[in-house]
Amino acid sequence: MSNKLKIGILISGQGSNLQALIDACEQPDFPAEIVLVISNVKNAKGIEIAINANIPCFIIDHKKYINRENFEAVMTERLSEAKVELVCLAGFMRLLSKKFIKLWFNRLINIHPSLLPAFKGLNVHVRAIDAGAKFSGCTVHFVRKHMDNGPIIAQSVVPVHDDDTSNELAERILKQEHRLYPSVVRWFAEDRVKIQGERVVVTGIDHPETTVTNPSPAL
Ligand code: GRF
Repeated sequence: MSNKLKIGILISGQGSNLQALIDACEQPDFPAEIVLVISNVKNAKGIEIAINANIPCFIIDHKKYINRENFEAVMTERLSEAKVELVCLAGFMRLLSKKFIKLWFNRLINIHPSLLPAFKGLNVHVRAIDAGAKFSGCTVHFVRKHMDNGPIIAQSVVPVHDDDTSNELAERILKQEHRLYPSVVRWFAEDRVKIQGERVVVTGIDHPETTVTNPSPAL
């Protein structure tokens, strides 16, 4: 039996982060394996990605349940049956209840396409451009009861260009998401992610010394 960390991935959409995690898990030395994928949207593109990779995939359509609690109870049943140890939200577009978050406390992480705590919620790229931000990026964090809030595990930074459209910025960030999410899963599987109150320390890792300035500094 494999001693890899068992992860479950929750999706609602295109599943490019799912694909990045699948690619990472296919590396023989990667310490985690995806044991199931759940989509709450029946036509999500990510479902095909899971099927092509031979990963058990369940469509649990929230619209078919009378309330959030019943919907989440079915997700928990599936996750527990598969013995999931870490739940990764990857473009999962449903808010989760306090009960679900408590049940998976510190075993539930999310990726968000901004440098949290800036730009929580939706339409983040348009908002970052409109606010004149010179940098944006992505964040992987533990999930807490408030949306896009919770101890930050890691972030990647990208520049915002003066002529960026929101699609161009989204694409630049998504590329970094595909590197960041598998890295965090690896650290988690290697038991290097330590939560100290609201702060997270990843042990045994190099931290960058470089400071980046946009536009590039003149002096
Ligand atoms: C990503 O930008 C992620 O940060 C956000 O939803 C998007 C999902 O993209 N939470 P994909 O479905 O993984 O391609």
